[in-house]
Amino acid sequence: LEDVDSNGSHGALDVVMEGLRRLEYRGYDSAGVAVLTESGIQSRKKSGKLTNLIAELQEAPLPDSLTGIGHTRWATHGGPTDQNAHPHLADDGRLAMIHNGIIENFAELKAELLDAGATFISDTDTEVAAVLLGSIYRRLADADAGSGSGSEDTLTRAMQEASQRLEGAFTLLAIHQDAPDVVVASRRNSPLVVGLGEGENFLGSDVSGFIDFTRRAVELGQDQVVTITPDAVSITDFFGAPAEGKEFHVDWDAAAAEKGGYDSFMEKEINDQPDAVGQTLLGRTDAKGNLVLDELRIDESILRSVDKIVVLACGTSAYAGSVAKYAIEHWCRIPTEVELSHEFRYRDPIVNEKTLVVAISQSGETMDTLMAVRYAREQGAKVVAICNTNGSTIPRESDAVLYTHAGPEIAVASTKAFLAQITAAYLLGLYLAQLRGNKFRDEINAVLSDLNEMPAKIQQVLDNADAVKKLGRDMADAKSVLFLGRHVGFPVAMEGALKLKELAYIHAEGFAAGELKHGPIALIEEGQPVVVVLPSPRGRDSLHSKVVSNIQEIRARGAVTIVIAEEGDESVAAFSEHVIHVPQTSTLLAPLLTTVPLQIFALELASAKGYDVDQPRNLAKSVTVE
Ligand code: G6P
Repeated sequence: LEDVDSNGSHGALDVVMEGLRRLEYRGYDSAGVAVLTESGIQSRKKSGKLTNLIAELQEAPLPDSLTGIGHTRWATHGGPTDQNAHPHLADDGRLAMIHNGIIENFAELKAELLDAGATFISDTDTEVAAVLLGSIYRRLADADAGSGSGSEDTLTRAMQEASQRLEGAFTLLAIHQDAPDVVVASRRNSPLVVGLGEGENFLGSDVSGFIDFTRRAVELGQDQVVTITPDAVSITDFFGAPAEGKEFHVDWDAAAAEKGGYDSFMEKEINDQPDAVGQTLLGRTDAKGNLVLDELRIDESILRSVDKIVVLACGTSAYAGSVAKYAIEHWCRIPTEVELSHEFRYRDPIVNEKTLVVAISQSGETMDTLMAVRYAREQGAKVVAICNTNGSTIPRESDAVLYTHAGPEIAVASTKAFLAQITAAYLLGLYLAQLRGNKFRDEINAVLSDLNEMPAKIQQVLDNADAVKKLGRDMADAKSVLFLGRHVGFPVAMEGALKLKELAYIHAEGFAAGELKHGPIALIEEGQPVVVVLPSPRGRDSLHSKVVSNIQEIRARGAVTIVIAEEGDESVAAFSEHVIHVPQTSTLLAPLLTTVPLQIFALELASAKGYDVDQPRNLAKSVTVE
C-alpha cells in the first residue's frame, strides 16, 4: 500500500496498518510492515495477531514515510515465527517484499541462489522470491548504470523477469530504497486490486484494504505486473508488454465492514441474515413473476441441454451445495452431485459439454475451488459461480456468476453467506426448472412466494433466540455434541457441527439420522448432548415420525436431546429435553430457518468459553493455497 498525501495528514504507516486491520480476517498468525525512509527501508514484524505488531510499533516506532507495505500471514512454508513473518528483505536490506500464495518451485530456485552465494534467514518461499528479485534487480541496475534508465523502470523490469521464473500462485509486492515513491507488484492466481486515489495510489489483496481512502479500484488480469507511484499506475504482462486492468467502483459501505454495535462480527453477521437473504432475492423476478437471472449469461439452449449438474465447494459452502442438490434434483429432475473441490479433479471425474458445474464460494478466492473450476472448464463444462465477492477470481474465471448479496462477511466462520448461497442455489434451481417448461410453473410460483417470506421468518428466529442462547451457555462444558438430520436437515446438521468445531473447538459431528443405527449410535452414553433437526410433520412424505423414533432410540441410551422443530409441532415435547421452534415453511426451504439456531448455539457456547469467535485458531477466511 502506498500513501502520498499532499497535506501530510496521514502517512504510509497509518494507511498500511488500517488496511491490515481490515484484512486481518484473511489470515493472522503473524504480521509485518516495511516503510521507505530517508535512511533506507525499515521493517517491523511479529508473530501472532496484529495487536502484537501494534505493540511492537509502540515500543520501536517507525518514522513517518510516504511509501510502505504490510502483510498479515497465514503460514504455509515455515511456522508462524517473527523470522518467517513478512516483509522479507533482500539486496542487503535495500529491498522489502511481501507475498500471498505458494511458490511451488522455491526449492529449486533456492538451491540456484545458494550456489550463487545468497544467504537466507527464514524458511519461507517468500524470501526465495525476494532474494531472486534482489539479485535480478542488482544485475539490471549494474547494467543500467550510466544509461539514464530510472530505478523505477529497473525495479519493474526486475519484477517482470522474476515473475517469469516463479511457478505456483503468488501476489508479490516490493519496494526498493533506490525508488523511494514506487511500489511494484505482480500477480498470478492470487488476488490483487489497485486503488486509485488523488495524488496517492494503493494496492491490496482486497478492496477493504483501502476502502477508507478511495472507491475507485482496478482489477488486474492474470500474470500482470503493476507499478504504482503517487500519480501513476502502469500495468504490463510478465514480458513488459503494456496491459490493462478493469476499473470498477466499490459500492460497499465502509461501515458495513464494522461490527455495527454487536460484540463480534459473527454476531452481527448472524443478525444480518434476513437482509442477506432479502438482498439475494432482490430484483430477480419480473412483473409477471418469472425469474430473470440477467447475470447468468449462458445460452439458454446450452442450459436446456444440461444432463448433469456438479456442485463444487469447500467448507460451509459445500453444505450449501448439499442443500442445493436436494432442491435442484426435485425441481429440475437433473441428476446433481456435490463434491468437495479438492477431491473432484484428482479422481478423473466424468465431466463434459453437457455438465453444468456450480462453484460455490463466499470469497471467490478459495484455491481448491478455483482449480476445480479451471479443470471443469478444460473438460468442456460450463461453470456458474455462486459467489459473495464482487470481482474475485472464481467468478471472473467462470462462464457466469450469480452473486449472493450478503455484504462483506468478516468473521472467519461463515454464517450469512451460507444462507445467501442456499438462496442463490434455490434461484438457480428454479430458473433451470423454468427453462425446462411449464409443468413446473405452479411449483416455481409457490416456492418463490415462500422464499419471499423467508427474511421475516429468519427475523422471527433471531427474535426468539433466548432459549437457544441459554442452552449454548449451559453446555459450555460439553466434551462432544452430535447433530442429526434427514433430507435437507442432514447438511444442516453437518453445518451445525462444523460451526461448533470452528468456534468452540469441541468435538462435533453431523450424521444422517437414518444412519444412526448403522454405527454412530454406539457413541451415545449418559448425558451425551444431541441436536436433532426435525422435519415438518406436514406434507405427504414426511420423515417426521422416523426422526421422532430416532430421538427415542438415543434418549433410551441416555442422550440429552435438543430438537429444532417446526412451530405448532407440539408432539415432540414429550420426547425431548429441549425444543426450539422455528416458523413453518416448505420442506426444501427449511434450512434457511433451522440453521440459524445452530449458529447461535455455537456462538454462545464459544463465547461462554471465552474464545475469539471472529478469528478461531488455525483457520483463515480465504484459503488461497491448495
Ligand atoms: C475456509 C473458511 C470457511 C469456508 C471455506 C470455503 O476454510 O474458514 O469458513 O467455508 O474456506 O470458503 P469459500 O470462500 O470458498 O466459500
